[in-house]
Formats: sequence, C-alpha cells, structure tokens
Amino acid sequence: MGTKKDKKILVTGALGQIGSELVPALEARYGAERVVASDIRIPPAGAYQGAFEQVDCTQPLAIQDVVRRHDIGAIYHMAALLSAVAEERPQIAWSVNLGGLYNVLEVARQNSASVFCPSSIGAFGPSTPRDRTPQTTIQRPTTMYGVTKVASELLCDYYAERFELDARGLRLPGLISYAAPPGGGTTDYAVEIFYQAVRYSHYTCFLAADTRLDMMYMPDAIDGIIQLMQAEPTRLKHRNAFNVTAMNFTPDELAGEIRKSVADFVIDYDVDPVRQAIAESWPRAIDDSAARAEWDWQPRYDLATMTADMLAKLGEKLKSPTRTT
Ligand code: SER
Repeated sequence: MGTKKDKKILVTGALGQIGSELVPALEARYGAERVVASDIRIPPAGAYQGAFEQVDCTQPLAIQDVVRRHDIGAIYHMAALLSAVAEERPQIAWSVNLGGLYNVLEVARQNSASVFCPSSIGAFGPSTPRDRTPQTTIQRPTTMYGVTKVASELLCDYYAERFELDARGLRLPGLISYAAPPGGGTTDYAVEIFYQAVRYSHYTCFLAADTRLDMMYMPDAIDGIIQLMQAEPTRLKHRNAFNVTAMNFTPDELAGEIRKSVADFVIDYDVDPVRQAIAESWPRAIDDSAARAEWDWQPRYDLATMTADMLAKLGEKLKSPTRTT
C-alpha cells in the first residue's frame, strides 16, 4: 500500500495550495502524530497540530535527515513551482520541480518509502489531442513546467520499475480552493474570480472568454490523492500519472454560473499573452477512464456544486477581519 502502517507521512510544500488542505486531511485520517508537514517557508506559530520541519527539497541531506528522524514511510511531494512562475524562472523551476523530485525519490529509495508526486494537464502540449485526451498519448509540452512534469512522470516510472519504489501520481487539472491561494498558475483565474466576485462583483480575467480547461474542486483532489495512495496495487496498471478531471469550463461559463448567485457580477478581459499561450497548449477535456477503472476515481463536485460551495465558504472567510487571502 502507498501509506505504510505505523510509519509516518511527510508532506513537502505543506504551505502551498494543495499542501494546506492535504495536511489536515491526512491528520484527520491517520492522526496528527503520524503527519510531518514541511515547507521551505516557516508557518505561523501554532499552525500545525503535528510536527513541522523547514525543508528545502533541493537539499537532499535535509530531506534525508527528516525522513530518518521521523521514520517516514510515505512522502507526499507537493513542493513545486506552477506554470506561469516557472516560465518566468525556468532555471529555478528545473531545480525545484525536477531536482527536488529526484532528491525525494533517492531518499525514498534509501528508506523504503513510497512517494506521491502530482503531475498536471501541463504535461501535455500543442501536439496532444485536446479533447478526450487519452491516458497514453503524445506529450511534447512547450513550457518549462510541462518539461519538468513529463520528466517527473518518467522518473517516477523509472524508480518504480528499476527499484520497485511505490511511486504514484495524478495529472491534476486546474484546482479551485478557498484555503490557500495557488500562486503563479495558468488556471489561477478560476480561483481569483471567486475572491473578486465576493468582494467587488467584478473580475478582469487574464484568459480569453472561450478558453476551455479541465478543473477540479480541491476536496475532490485531496480525496483522489489519498484514495490513489491507498489503492490496491494489483489493480493499478498505470500506477503513476493518472489523468483525472471533474469538470471543464471557460471563463465565460464560470462567470455565468457565478451570476446565478451574484446577480450583478461582471467579468471583463485583459488577456495575458503568456498565460493564454500556455492555456492554448493544454487539453480542453482529458479522458480519466483509466483512473475510474483502476481505483474507482469519482469526483463529487461539478461546476454548479463547486461554485455554490466556493461562494458560501469564501463569503464566510472574507467576513473575518483577520483573514484577507
Ligand atoms: N494549475 C496549474 C497551473 O496552472 C496546472 O497544473 O500551473
């Protein structure tokens, strides 16, 4: 199994968009004493019930030290740069996204730990079929983010094959959440739009109105990550880099859905050519039938239920004077 009994779990990038919600979910399932959160940043005091370690994943000895001290049996490796920021800083993206994963896999190999590594719709490129994108298909991404994601998928496959390391992963679509901001992704508009709708009933979108991309609400992503790590290995034909999606929509369609609750909501457009080009190199709708068949992937939220929940949760959160993001 991906998460070994009695051993602890390490989450890298714990302060990021996914890590912020993955840590509490793992604590709820396995107990706070079994989860070690880590990030290159330092959290506010009292942020974690369990242990926190400051770890820079480009430093293999730092990872090794934490894994040995805490008797780690599974590493959920979430530390990475997102697509737009990786395009601004390609050298750092290579070092963090691929170098960091290499270090994690090596430490996992030396300590018989399993690894979860998120891939992305960014692992596809302009020559990939954009609709019903198959599980196995052409992957020639044109972004540094995509290059590191394809290489990560291959590296995880290699370690699984060569060293029998239990490395599993999902190709996640754009993730929508209200807990922590994504920071530097091409799909971030689908988060920002909710903050702006609740605060100002107005949003200026950096992607064009008809840009269709796969998306998912964070609770489904968290469930999917934990479910894959618990899946029966004999059922997994792919193991790593599963296509998963929950919905796909355009900015115009999302605005229409928000307008059902925020009647005066207005969207306008100021297209960022860099992020628009990235979005146009990605699929519009991926086929996740392998995940459904091999480990019963089944998202709970669609566009309507996600939108209603986001607006309700953000409405509450933005009322609080102490929370502004
Ligand atoms: N949400 C990510 C990004 O936009 C895609 O994996 O970078």
